[in-house]
Formats: sequence, structure tokens, C-alpha cells
Amino acid sequence: MVGILVTLEGIDGSGKTTAARILEGRLRDRDVLFTAEPTPGEIGRLIRKEHLAQDRGPSRRMEELFLFVADHAQHLYQRIIPALDRGALVISDRYTDSRVAYQGVTLQDILPEPIQWIRELHRPWSVDPHLTILFRLDPALAVERCRTRPRERFEHEAILTQVARIFDRLAQEEPRRFLVIDAEAEGEEVAERALSAILELAASRISL
Ligand code: TYD
Repeated sequence: MVGILVTLEGIDGSGKTTAARILEGRLRDRDVLFTAEPTPGEIGRLIRKEHLAQDRGPSRRMEELFLFVADHAQHLYQRIIPALDRGALVISDRYTDSRVAYQGVTLQDILPEPIQWIRELHRPWSVDPHLTILFRLDPALAVERCRTRPRERFEHEAILTQVARIFDRLAQEEPRRFLVIDAEAEGEEVAERALSAILELAASRISL
């Protein structure tokens, strides 16, 4: 695999999707695969319809985790690895850290160590990102930003506060992989910071 994998992470409303759209415009002249999880494929659609539209209750949370993992497996083998093999830059709006952070919260009453367990579940077969950009925003502000659209499953301050805490912990544990960006700034400015980190990484990998 000669390509570069960059992932964008953050709580709902943190502005990473807006940043992804700006990045797409700026990187148009390169070989870039812009992608996202949950995917628009069959499993991703099922997740959106069955699980993100409403809370199906604790008994469905394990099922939900495995649907996200299955969606990731399909995404990885069908789209990401082939793109990395041809040397492309892959930018994914959400990836495994979203599972660690979100299902780390939803499974906390079901499993003793959900964060560790979800990581272990991916470790032997998934591909680690070279760079993860964490869009960091106060959960109250993030919920405020989501207000103009119908509220999804996780768009509540209490949940996003716990999710944000896990993202922070992940970034602290792996400072070399994570770049934390203050997402309170204006959209273009946030995207510019992400862009320079991506270009810097691409340049350093070419010169290796
Ligand atoms: P989406 O509408 O794509 O939200 P956003 O634009 O904020 O990325 O929905 C994705 C939702 O799914 C979001 O609330 C995070 C959640 N999610 C998980 O709970 N686990 C996962 O593994 C992934 C990829 C997403």
C-alpha cells in the first residue's frame, strides 16, 4: 500500500463534513478518494434507516456495532485498500475512531471495557490512518449547529459530551497520529488548517 489514509473525526455538528467539502475542491487536481462512514452502500443505508433515525434501545446496540463494523469491512476492502494500492490519497469522513468513541458510549453498560474491546476488534485486519484530524468543538455549540436539521440519534449534548471525551482521550494517547483542530473558527479557516496538514504529510511521504 503506497497511498495515504487521512480520517476526519469529531462529534456531530463539529463541521468536519463542511471541511471535507472544501478540501474536495482544493484537492481536485490530485488522485484523491473522498469517502465516508457510514457508507452510502447497503449496510450504511440500513444503519441510517434502522439505527440513526431513532434509538432502538439497549438490546439493539451490539447489533448496531456489528453493522458499523460490517460497513467498515466492506468500505475497506472494496474502496479504501484498492485506492491505497494505486497510491491515492484517501480522505474518510469518519472511520474506526467513530466506532471507538460512539459505541464506546452506547456499549458502556453492556461491556466492561468497550473502548479497548472495539479497538481490539479492528486491530488484526483494519488499516490504521496515517493522519487523523479531530475537529474539536464544545458539545453545546455542536448541538446548536445541528438545530437547523432534524435531530439524529446522537445529537444530544449529554451523549456528545461523552463521545467528545473519548475522542480527546484517543488524541492524547496517539499524539503523532492525531491533529486536533479548534473547530469553533470559521469554516474556511478550519479547512485550511486541515489542508496544510494533509499537504505536509503528502510531501513528507513522497520524499521518503
Ligand atoms: P452522519 O449523518 O454521517 O453524521 P455526521 O455528518 O456528523 O458524520 O451520521 C453518522 C452518525 O453515525 C454520527 O452520529 C456518528 C455515528 N457513527 C457511529 O455511531 N459509529 C460509527 O462507527 C460511525 C462511522 C458513525
